[in-house]
Parts: sequence; C-alpha cells; structure tokens
Amino acid sequence: INLTFVDHQGAERSVSVEPGSSLMTAAIYNDVPGIEADCGGSCACATCHVYIDPAWMDRVGPAAGDEVDMLSTASELRPNSRLSCQVKLSEALDGLCVETPAFQG
Ligand code: FES
Repeated sequence: INLTFVDHQGAERSVSVEPGSSLMTAAIYNDVPGIEADCGGSCACATCHVYIDPAWMDRVGPAAGDEVDMLSTASELRPNSRLSCQVKLSEALDGLCVETPAFQG
C-alpha cells in the first residue's frame, strides 16, 4: 500500500509498504524524518506521534486504551493525533496521508 508522509514544513514523501505492519515501522524503515519511536513500538514513549489527515480519521479511528494515556504526554496534541506504532496498516489504508510534528516529546 502507498502512504504519504508530510513533514511540518509541507515536504511530502511517499513510501510503499506491505499491509500488516504499523505506521511507525513503515516510517522508520523508509527513513521518514520526524518520528523517533524510542520505545520501539510498545506504546510507551509517545515519540512516534503523528497527525492523521483529517479526511482519513474515520478509517483510522481515534486512539484507545493505553494509547490515550501515552498520547496525552505528547506535545502539540490535535484531535487527529495518534501514536503511529498503534496504527496497523491494512489494505483499507492504501493512500493514507499523515503529517509528522515539528518535534517529538
Ligand atoms: Fe513508543 Fe510508539 S514507538 S509509543
């Protein structure tokens, strides 16, 4: 599936990944800047914070459970904030666009 990452300055980067992985690993494996993922995907660091394109929020869905607690520690939260390690990529998310924040933490 194809994904587009947009950095905080508006620069776009398109990547192709297999469904089944997480949005965080898709970014890390493709050297997308702006995602640190210090905890390696355990929902324990909030440095994989991204903004889902609002047009995609229905399909991606909001944060739930532990992700809500961890996400609340991220800076510059928005209604479309998610921790990218908790977003599982499926065929239904082909074409997904996400924005990366200016900084993590
Ligand atoms: Fe740490 Fe996502 S990688 S919370």
